[in-house]
Amino acid sequence: MARHPHAEAAPPARVVQAQALRRLVQALVERSGSSPIEAERVAHHLVDADLSGHDTHGVAMLPRYLENLRTGGLVANRELVVVHDHGALVTLDGQAGYGQVIGAQAMALGIERARVHGVAVLGLANSHHLGRIGAYAEQCLDAGLVSIHFVNVVTQPLVAPFGGSDARLATNPMCVGLPMGPALEPLLLDFATSRIAMGKVHEAQRQGRPLPPGAAIDAEGRPSRDPGVMLQEPRGALLPLGAHKGYGLAVACELLAGALTGGLTLHQPRAAGAIINNMLSILVDPERLGTAAHLAAQAHAFADWVKASPPTRESGVMLPGEPEAASRRRRRAEGIALDAATWAGLLAAGSVLGIEDAALLALAEGG
Ligand SMILES: NC(=O)c1ccc[n+]([C@@H]2O[C@H](COP(=O)([O-])OP(=O)(O)OC[C@H]3O[C@@H](n4cnc5c(N)ncnc54)[C@H](O)[C@@H]3O)[C@@H](O)[C@H]2O)c1
Repeated sequence: MARHPHAEAAPPARVVQAQALRRLVQALVERSGSSPIEAERVAHHLVDADLSGHDTHGVAMLPRYLENLRTGGLVANRELVVVHDHGALVTLDGQAGYGQVIGAQAMALGIERARVHGVAVLGLANSHHLGRIGAYAEQCLDAGLVSIHFVNVVTQPLVAPFGGSDARLATNPMCVGLPMGPALEPLLLDFATSRIAMGKVHEAQRQGRPLPPGAAIDAEGRPSRDPGVMLQEPRGALLPLGAHKGYGLAVACELLAGALTGGLTLHQPRAAGAIINNMLSILVDPERLGTAAHLAAQAHAFADWVKASPPTRESGVMLPGEPEAASRRRRRAEGIALDAATWAGLLAAGSVLGIEDAALLALAEGG
């Protein structure tokens, strides 16, 4: 049943149930030096990203995290540090700890403050990769809060500025979470400000597909659909979504997250490696604003109105957050399909940590 660890062909793609995949990831993270609770939180976040359909930010990230751990860009078992505390305004330092832990601790503090003051503004600097930003909006939604998040990424530059021809920014995501009342999925808008996320480039390369038109330029600044322009030297750049508008959003993320929080902006070339995220989060309690019932009623009426538009695609009109909710329902029932490269990456990570393929296979199969 188990493949030979040194077989030459790549291990095939696998379908793994969420709970088994959580156990597998938890075992790898724990073996790499994290406490059981840290390993559990990282596993929960990554598998949830896969469940929600964002494979680019799911367990496929783990080998890179473990590499960053070895090279010192990520530090295990770090706790959130409060730098300045003014009640509703808090600045925080993540000490290059696992973003999945640091981000969740920051939101827990923000939720506590928003309950007291009605609003909380969190400036979180120097966290390692926060993963899928929607997870933090969901934490706020579970507490009944609206939240807005701006993130920058201090890593190798990947995205060209509008009007420029080489990479000066990263894929700076932004996110909005908003409760839509009892009858509807919450609104969850969560996207990179580049035309496509970097993970989609790796995916296209693996599958031998071209990039979508208008997504990238080569090292000479010419439009290119070859994923190789982002993966081999001399590298090209991804383009911002929506021309000057997406570029403007990326700049706002860069300065709100990378400067206002006390974090760093991207202003010099960086080697590929550690991924530091900074995040400005604004949490609002609609109950304290006195508009919660109004918000729910308006959201319901608006959702009915906008979804009544005659469809131009099979899925009709959806609201942001609905594709993720549908993916969760599907993948909870059917399992999570890991492509061959992702599965191979997990086995290779295990091998570096001294965990045999057979042990990981047993975990994947629910053993
Ligand atoms: N931590 C980091 O440094 C970092 C950097 C970049 C991206 N990310 C994460 O990567 C993930 C993926 O980003 P992305 O840009 O590839 O996302 P994407 O292009 O898949 O867009 C996702 C957003 O669009 C909405 N959406 C998708 N299809 C829709 C439809 N048909 N109708 C209505 N809404 C629809 C989704 O609900 C979601 O809000 C995000 O979770 C983001 O937080 C993280």
